[in-house]
Amino acid sequence: MIRIVSACALAGIVLLAAQGVPPQAQTVPAQGAKEIAKAREDLMKRMWPDYYRDMSQAAKGAGDPKAVKAAEAVAQLKKFATMFPPGSGREGAPDTRAKPEVWSQRADFDAALDSLVKETTAFGAAAAAGNADAMKASWAKVAEACGGCHGGPSKSGGKFRFEE
Ligand code: HEC
Repeated sequence: MIRIVSACALAGIVLLAAQGVPPQAQTVPAQGAKEIAKAREDLMKRMWPDYYRDMSQAAKGAGDPKAVKAAEAVAQLKKFATMFPPGSGREGAPDTRAKPEVWSQRADFDAALDSLVKETTAFGAAAAAGNADAMKASWAKVAEACGGCHGGPSKSGGKFRFEE
């Protein structure tokens, strides 16, 4: 009886091992790493011109608050979160500016992203309400949330991005 049970258990382990992906296979191939690093760099580059510039204008009372696309910005941020497979740091994509801390301190990285999502959503609500004071206060928090990973300016570095 014991022998049968352990034989079954062993078979189960072998089966699991066969289905499971070995750790090395989870890293992306070099070509894939470069492509995904480029894609996430492009995504980040579009954040300011496509979404945050309008918000900065609206916060100053200069632009149209109805033009603010906060929900779209949040959708892009959520996509960005999925673009860091293991192996897509500089070991696989030498030009990436993503620091190894993205992987080694992933919980902090996710928390920094969550806070930008939260502040961007709050800005969207203030803009939809046409509330100038709330937009102004909220904008400061959005800018601070960018600083959770790096300075706002494109060449700046920070906790999760190499300086250029
Ligand atoms: C959760 C972390 C995080 C937050 C928050 C964040 N970024 Fe980034 N950003 C990164 C990382 C990582 C890179 C480098 C990506 C790469 O090279 O793979 C980057 C790159 C950039 C780049 C440069 C693209 C390039 O040429 O490499 C710009 C511009 C940028 N971010 C703007 C912003 C702005 C504006 C905000 C706030 C609205 C912001 N980021 C918030 C992580 C973040």
